[in-house]
Amino acid sequence: MSKIAILGYGTVGSGIAAVLDTNTAQVAASAGEEVTVGAILDLRDFPRDPHEAQVTHDIETILANPEIEVVCETMGGVEPAYTFSKRAIEAGKSVCTSNKELVATHGPELLELARAHKVSYLFEASVGGGIPVLHAINNSLRHEQIESVTGILNGTTNYILTRMEQEGADFDTVLADAQAKGYAERNPAADIEGHDACRKTAILAGLMSGRYVDPADIPTEGITKVTVEDLREARAAGYCIKLLGSCRQISDEAIEASVAPFLVPLTHPLASVNDVFNAILVHGNMIGDVMFYGRGAGKEATASAVVGDVLDIIRHRGSTLPVQYSRTPAVLQAAAEGAETKRFASGNSYRVL
Ligand code: HSE
Repeated sequence: MSKIAILGYGTVGSGIAAVLDTNTAQVAASAGEEVTVGAILDLRDFPRDPHEAQVTHDIETILANPEIEVVCETMGGVEPAYTFSKRAIEAGKSVCTSNKELVATHGPELLELARAHKVSYLFEASVGGGIPVLHAINNSLRHEQIESVTGILNGTTNYILTRMEQEGADFDTVLADAQAKGYAERNPAADIEGHDACRKTAILAGLMSGRYVDPADIPTEGITKVTVEDLREARAAGYCIKLLGSCRQISDEAIEASVAPFLVPLTHPLASVNDVFNAILVHGNMIGDVMFYGRGAGKEATASAVVGDVLDIIRHRGSTLPVQYSRTPAVLQAAAEGAETKRFASGNSYRVL
């Protein structure tokens, strides 16, 4: 039997317990043994929750508990998630996370630390919610030279743009709905200003190149200026508007990366990705285009991705699962000049994919 700890019992953290409780038999079959929640760290109490008795307010009890093998960090934000993750690794525990801000900031360093302590640090749920795209890049596509990655990486903004386009819905009303559904970040500015998609782009660029890409260096624009009229005008011209994160390998060291709303031709596969769904188009030199599609946010989908990492770790107990994402910085180049753009009646301009 393997016991895990959950740090942060919010949307994703409580989803992890729900996945283990609902798919108990499938989880055991995948791990080769039973997997249960041993402890939950949160500032709050959870009266009447089935896992109420496992809630603690003290990280030390988790770090000192030799029965806890894997720690799932679903707190969000850099601190105290960074310190707790480091200490868990130093205590010989593997860590899985959905925390894109932490991974985009300290991922390579935590991977190094995990290697030094012969444990694993995995972060599937940090990009694309439930979509197992990082596992695919790290494993199935590892022999490829990945030339570019382009994706709809934020569920909240895709949900907002879809409902604005399909129903002419008001931005603030749809945002409130996305928050109620558990899609949005605690501060939804991270979604609508593009910072969340930027962190995910930095992680994808890091895995594509094997080098560190600082999210602060990626030119980023969100969807706050997009209007219902722009969406209508785009459709009439044969496009939809999607917030895309993209990166492209220019040379061994140099990459190009950006986050911005794009005009996507209605015939393009990314144009049919609606609501909370995300899709990531990976281009490899041998395999060509591969597209990964699924729920990009939400409790169960994101928690399922964390549990996938937990089970991978248990199946490979005693070894460090390899992830190519080093501290060596990539050289970030500005997007090539000459990309086609269209100017709309609102005065807004959009690049064409
Ligand atoms: N707020 C994020 C999104 C959650 O909407 O995509 C999943 O990372």
